[in-house]
Amino acid sequence: MKHRIVIGITGASGSLYASKLLQMLFTIPGELHLVASDMGWKVLAHELQAKGDSFSQFVQSLTDDSPPATTITIHDDHDFFAPVASGSFRTSGMVIIPCSMKTLSAVATGCSDDLISRAADVTLKERRPLVLVTRETPLSLIHLKNMCAAAEAGATIMPASPGFYNRPLSIDAMAEHMAGRILDQLGIDIPGMARWGD
Ligand SMILES: Cc1cc2nc3c(=O)[nH]c(=O)nc-3n(C[C@H](O)[C@H](O)[C@H](O)COP(=O)(O)O)c2cc1C
Repeated sequence: MKHRIVIGITGASGSLYASKLLQMLFTIPGELHLVASDMGWKVLAHELQAKGDSFSQFVQSLTDDSPPATTITIHDDHDFFAPVASGSFRTSGMVIIPCSMKTLSAVATGCSDDLISRAADVTLKERRPLVLVTRETPLSLIHLKNMCAAAEAGATIMPASPGFYNRPLSIDAMAEHMAGRILDQLGIDIPGMARWGD
């Protein structure tokens, strides 16, 4: 069965990780449902000097060079009528990348006041994979407790902390390696990804 993955992009630093993850997912046949929070789009536009005036234009710009192998649907973060807001809409899992401490706390407490946190809530209750690519430093006790609560509820906490053991030569290489490790969590294999021991 082709994958159907939900990607939430929130207003933490690290938009490059989201961009790399999307570019990788675009190469694999499947179905993508994308949601950017208001701050997710603003921080992304700032960090990546994104082309276009909106998140959908940015996503479009990522597919300029080659058409995506996957279908892409973009949802408004305030649209609770979107299919991903319901557990009856079956998905292969969800990644929130980057995941702000605010959205982490919403996931940890079940406070679903936007589509990203609602879709994450649904992913947990349906026992589907949920990967939170959290980003903040240093971490307060509140952040750490929220990570514990989300992990206890079934989420995978995957802080945006790239490794150096593969001796990356660029920021892009570091972000791509991180994106590949995230896809491992969803059981999606990207050909050519450098792996220790290969
Ligand atoms: C440039 C910039 C960088 C930010 N980086 C982080 C960050 O790394 N981690 C974090 O938790 N919040 C960060 N924030 C704050 C969040 O954007 C803010 O808490 C927001 O309410 C998150 O909302 P959201 O989770 O709905 O996107 C940053 C804000 C700005 C403007």
